[in-house]
Amino acid sequence: MLIGKPPDIPSSEITLRAEYDRYMNRRRFLRTAASTAVAALGVERLAEVVSPRITAHAGTKLQTVKSPLTTTGEQLTSFEDITHYNNFYEFGVEKDQPAKNAGGLPTRPWTVRIDGKVKQPKTFDIDTLLKLRPLEDRVYRHRCVEAWSMVIPWVGYSLSEFINQCDPLPSAKYVQFLSYYDRHVEKWTGESTISWPYSEGLRMDEAMNPLTLLTFGLYGEVLPNQDGAPVRIVVPWKYGFKSAKSIVAVRFLDKQPPTTWNDQGPSEYGFYSNVNPSVDHPRWSQKTERRIGQPFYAQRRTTLMFNGYGDQVASMYNGMDLRRNF
Ligand code: MTE
Repeated sequence: MLIGKPPDIPSSEITLRAEYDRYMNRRRFLRTAASTAVAALGVERLAEVVSPRITAHAGTKLQTVKSPLTTTGEQLTSFEDITHYNNFYEFGVEKDQPAKNAGGLPTRPWTVRIDGKVKQPKTFDIDTLLKLRPLEDRVYRHRCVEAWSMVIPWVGYSLSEFINQCDPLPSAKYVQFLSYYDRHVEKWTGESTISWPYSEGLRMDEAMNPLTLLTFGLYGEVLPNQDGAPVRIVVPWKYGFKSAKSIVAVRFLDKQPPTTWNDQGPSEYGFYSNVNPSVDHPRWSQKTERRIGQPFYAQRRTTLMFNGYGDQVASMYNGMDLRRNF
């Protein structure tokens, strides 16, 4: 995504399982140390001891049901690659940095604020959101604008189920998602020209499409921080940057919201950003993609229109010029 940066990074740079295990062990150790300290000090000191630097639920299994909207016939990308080859610029610009740096993201307590064109602004606690609907296992292809892809077994439910609880007004035509941002936590953003917080947006019909997923986990477990804990958006027919991570606000608007990458490079990253092999990025082709986890010399795959989800989404763009509205 970075202006002037080559699109592909060799898989030899991907951090391996050993490092993930070390990272998880370190966090398990911190959690145990914290609860021992709590027991010693008594409950009244809880707030001081369980610092927000310790994530409450990393690695926790989620109870899920199978989803009729899951993608079949694809080999899943490994947990290691999904959690160590990330874009999360608040925690660094290299693919392995979010796994190293996002450990301090305070994922409990966590709330999501609803405002804008709604009957009544509301705030949802993350644990309320987790229980709102049965959590589904949904495999999706995940296509990054940098021309690499993965196949990820997400856990969540359709964003439409949540939007129905938000009572948007008829004047709500767009939805904006805002990510968590705190300079003290996300100190790797200091040098960047991006204006934080990370912002993304969808047209209302796109947000209501059953494929758009409010996402809490992957591989049946709570999302690791680097993948957007504790809740993110996943829009499988669009380039990955439309899928905002670690969201704290959902805003209903009558106008198209400003979005991070569109602001950064309007000629490179459109508002719609539907996966479209016939519209190249100005600096590279979008006709093919590299599947992460396969050897670097493996043949590139042909990129599918709407990332292969055309049957479910193409009709939303009838009559639109997708070269202009890229
Ligand atoms: N959300 C936030 N808050 N910050 C980011 O930098 N990167 C986006 C998107 N969501 C990003 C974000 C990009 S460019 C991509 S490709 C996907 O997250 C990557 O998701 P993944 O790391 O889970 O594969």
